[in-house]
Amino acid sequence: MTSLDDLPLREDLRGRTPYGAPQLDVPVRLNTNENSYPVPEPVVEAIAKAVHAELADLNRYPDRDARALRADLADYLGHGLTVDQVWAANGSNEILQQLLQAFGGPGRSVLGFGPAYSMHPLLALGTGTAFVDGGRDADFALRPERAVERIAAHRPDLVFLCSPNNPTGTALDPEVLTAVLDAAPGMVVVDEAYAEFARPGTTSALAALPGHPRLVVTRTMSKAFGFAGGRLGYLAAHPAVVQAVQLVRLPYHLSALTQAAARAVLAHRTALLATVAVLKEQRDRIVSTLRARGYRVADSDANFVLFAVAGDQRDTWRRLLDAGVLVRDVGLPGWLRVTAGTPAETDAFLAALAAVDNGTAVADGAAAIGGVALADGAAVDDGRSGGSEGIA
Ligand SMILES: Cc1ncc(COP(=O)(O)O)c(C=O)c1O
Repeated sequence: MTSLDDLPLREDLRGRTPYGAPQLDVPVRLNTNENSYPVPEPVVEAIAKAVHAELADLNRYPDRDARALRADLADYLGHGLTVDQVWAANGSNEILQQLLQAFGGPGRSVLGFGPAYSMHPLLALGTGTAFVDGGRDADFALRPERAVERIAAHRPDLVFLCSPNNPTGTALDPEVLTAVLDAAPGMVVVDEAYAEFARPGTTSALAALPGHPRLVVTRTMSKAFGFAGGRLGYLAAHPAVVQAVQLVRLPYHLSALTQAAARAVLAHRTALLATVAVLKEQRDRIVSTLRARGYRVADSDANFVLFAVAGDQRDTWRRLLDAGVLVRDVGLPGWLRVTAGTPAETDAFLAALAAVDNGTAVADGAAAIGGVALADGAAVDDGRSGGSEGIA
């Protein structure tokens, strides 16, 4: 019988396991940074109507440039953006992949700063782009000096920044973006998948687009909009960047059904984005409750919280799962990440953690902000796989 090893697979893919998440059927699922709130009924109806209107025309290919959807996205983003500055694809993962296809590839490199979104190195691998991890300081912060020094040392073709950063949750210091834009010889990509959850006063990299034609801001409808199953990610950049990704996109990559559904969602954005305020409240509640209990917790501008536990985080992860609460072990020793969901889910998580830790948590936790230096290149999983076994 033929196995994977018998096939003439690319050498750099040999021995790898597919990226995948245990999608476990447990009562409280707080491991993937989705929006816990289902799509409201009026929006369900609007999506159904919009999709229905496309059905008779499915014999034809969709608008391969998705111009109507891109115009809606530009309108949502504001900042004076126009349709020619926005591009859309099946999730921001596909957007990031297209950027690497256009600007990376064999013989080229991308610099990231881990722990960050673990699909960044995996997308680099898939596109044959060398990934360089510039690391972070022990408190998970990325400071301008480090960013500039790593850029000078590696001269990457692309720099990936993530704000708010997954898995740590904290938004990027604007001074880092300024310094990176000055120092980077190539493209600068700011992954803003969680931008809508940022705390007041946080600036988006969208504001820096004028005058920076090599800056790209990526966004998604998977988180704040609660449209993860719909698969819609997008970017904002100079029109020349949009022209560049059009060179590598598959023809008709975005189905007519996806375009119609996403447009219906955008038309109902006020209703959908109403959940953001509730989720931010739960996020802040998790942060303050855990801190009051003595846990070390990273500041969060996202819909998730990274917190330190005593001992081996895999034990706490397993015990929480046994209690019916699925959180995320991102592969950072001593840390776990929990998604902020509904108030009832927060109740369940906080109660389960109290029972699991039995009040003994924390103070002697193996990892600590300002305590244990992270090795550069520490492997971190992303928001999608479920537990400790999922660490790449
Ligand atoms: C930082 C970050 N960027 C991008 C994505 C990809 O999101 P999607 O492909 O659903 O748009 C995620 C998903 O978890 C993420 O955490």
